[in-house]
Amino acid sequence: MGAGVPSLAIVSGSANVALASSIVRELGASLARCQVERFPDGEIHVEVEPEDVNGRDVVVVQSTSKDAGDHLLELLFLADACRRAGAASVSAAIPYFGYARHDRRKRPGEPLGARVVADVLGTAHFDRVLAIDLHSDVVEASIAAPVEHLSAVPLVADALRKHVTRDAVVVAPDLGGVRLAREYARILELPLAVVHKVRRSATHVDVERVAGEVSGRRAIIVDDMIATGGTIIAAAHAVSGEGALHEVVVAATHAVFAPQTVGRFREVGLEQLVVTNTVPLAAADHSVTVVSVAPLLAARLRSHFPGIVLGDP
Ligand code: R5P
Repeated sequence: MGAGVPSLAIVSGSANVALASSIVRELGASLARCQVERFPDGEIHVEVEPEDVNGRDVVVVQSTSKDAGDHLLELLFLADACRRAGAASVSAAIPYFGYARHDRRKRPGEPLGARVVADVLGTAHFDRVLAIDLHSDVVEASIAAPVEHLSAVPLVADALRKHVTRDAVVVAPDLGGVRLAREYARILELPLAVVHKVRRSATHVDVERVAGEVSGRRAIIVDDMIATGGTIIAAAHAVSGEGALHEVVVAATHAVFAPQTVGRFREVGLEQLVVTNTVPLAAADHSVTVVSVAPLLAARLRSHFPGIVLGDP
């Protein structure tokens, strides 16, 4: 290590240790030692190995996926522990940013949850925040730290290629997803259609109309995230009602699946589902392709920390 050049240390929260491990593998090192545990009363206890972070540029990798509140707190505790142990800088890599969908109020009486989460993150004074396919620009703007907003779309689109035929059409399942879908359509050189969706509740979605030509075409329905699957299923029904082929291909960056989500897709002719590993996937079969975002994050870390030297804890 050159004099005065701090080396990098990657610390993992408990939300997605597999992803953090893949990132350090890409970088040719190992994770900084740390422990995360729950006390019987539900409180979180974390402890980093000071030797592994002292004097280093530290990146804490933590998706704030289920259980979002606990994972957020873990991230903050780990950041605090690293600073107190002498880290030269502390950044956060948040591959999936929980509560991002709470970026606007649909009714008076609701909070701006994404803003609250961003404010809470601000208390950790991260030197940098890396995120992937944030739900909206509003979320990025709410985060006080400099944000590196990465896109997994090129990676996912690449994995989609073998399921794409010339008669396919990329479908945005709602207006909020148009920008992302346009990017898929551009990369895959396919036309675009847009479903106008109305969300009635957290689990109930209705469709008003489809804009674009879908008749006789195979729909590639793309979204930033999938939770209950309601949005995708409503879109699949809508395009099928407009004459699209029964088989659909579905792609999303964040697989925030509720139980039964993939099973529900089979009922609407799922041929292939492509998602990334920003959130760990419990079970997958041949109809699910999981693309790793580890190379994307590792490449960005390399470019941020030029002359990167990884400590080998
Ligand atoms: C909504 O704006 C998001 O982009 C997704 O379309 C939505 O959150 C997916 O949720 P679900 O799968 O529960 O419909």
